[in-house]
Amino acid sequence: MKTPVRVAVTGAAGQIGYALLFRIASGEMLGKDQPVILQLLELPIDKAQAALKGVMMELEDCAFPLLAGMVGTDDPEVAFKDADVALLVGARPRGPGMERKDLLLENAKIFTAQGAALNKVASRNVKVLVVGNPANTNAYIAMKSAPDLPARNFTAMLRLDHNRALSQLANQANVAVGDIENLIVWGNHSPTMYPDYRFATAKGKSLKDAINDADWNANTFIPQVGKRGAAIIEARGLSSAASAANAAIDHVRDWLLGSNGKWVTMGVPSDGSYGIPEGVIYGVPVITANGEYTRVEGLAVDDFSRAAMDKTLAELEEERAGVAHLLG
Ligand code: NAD
Ligand code: LMR
Repeated sequence: MKTPVRVAVTGAAGQIGYALLFRIASGEMLGKDQPVILQLLELPIDKAQAALKGVMMELEDCAFPLLAGMVGTDDPEVAFKDADVALLVGARPRGPGMERKDLLLENAKIFTAQGAALNKVASRNVKVLVVGNPANTNAYIAMKSAPDLPARNFTAMLRLDHNRALSQLANQANVAVGDIENLIVWGNHSPTMYPDYRFATAKGKSLKDAINDADWNANTFIPQVGKRGAAIIEARGLSSAASAANAAIDHVRDWLLGSNGKWVTMGVPSDGSYGIPEGVIYGVPVITANGEYTRVEGLAVDDFSRAAMDKTLAELEEERAGVAHLLG
């Protein structure tokens, strides 16, 4: 039997946690032959701890053969101890009429503390995915608060946006979602993100040529993907949960097990390419293999794309300036 992988999940009793944990324990994230130990963090308040206990009872009642152990705690240093993977979900979600950046200062404190705890006790190669909003800037805060861990291991979730864009594109071009390759979502997980289908193909054929509609791109595709989170909140009265959990599974599975040559979008610290200053956590196309991601380099950036990529960068820079005082 393989050595179990320690997976820490924060906000484990929340909406996303409830849609996530059972799939991790059943092997959908790390493979059907990979045992996992779940290390679950919730707030130190009775209601949250009671809800966490209930979720752990249900996990137990599933008798998952791959679930090799479970810890429930209100202490980040217990939850992150020797963690190989950390899913940072726990944070306040936005409600109707809010933007994700309205959560910035309230949620930022969580990520300074959790970055420091990861720095102290996690595996030296822990792979971190930040889901809690605003995800890019929270990932940046956690990365900066964990100076002894590899910066490249701090990532933000843009996979939900990538998946949303895949579905919109498949509908518009009347092709199967699974046939689409080479799609990108650049930048921030916010309405300024830039879903870019210039290189996308289905069964090798260009979708840009097939759709050939600049108006649809600028006035339907890009805004619809960017504002999908708000549309879900409007419809459900709550922010997306099952689709967010699904995207987190996709992100970590591809990172650890490989994307088989396919481009996927990850929010990762910039290496300076594409004119994005080093260190900014920015959505880019990557190919993953052997637990590492590699940027897709050298793509042409036309004037429309440059403007869109700079707009989402400007927002990230503004968010970064807004939390600078927390990072010393
Ligand atoms: P939720 O309110 O249902 O659950 C959040 C849970 O986190 C709660 O149980 C809460 O007690 C817990 N929590 C809060 N602070 C914590 C802390 N410091 N340590 C540990 N646990 C803590 O919210 P949700 O719907 O599960 O969403 C969680 C976050 O994910 C929100 O910020 C939401 O905006 C974000 N989100 C991101 C994406 C994305 O694509 N990046 C998608 C959907 C939701
Ligand atoms: C989403 O995109 O669904 C999440 O980020 C939740 C939100 O606030 O939109």
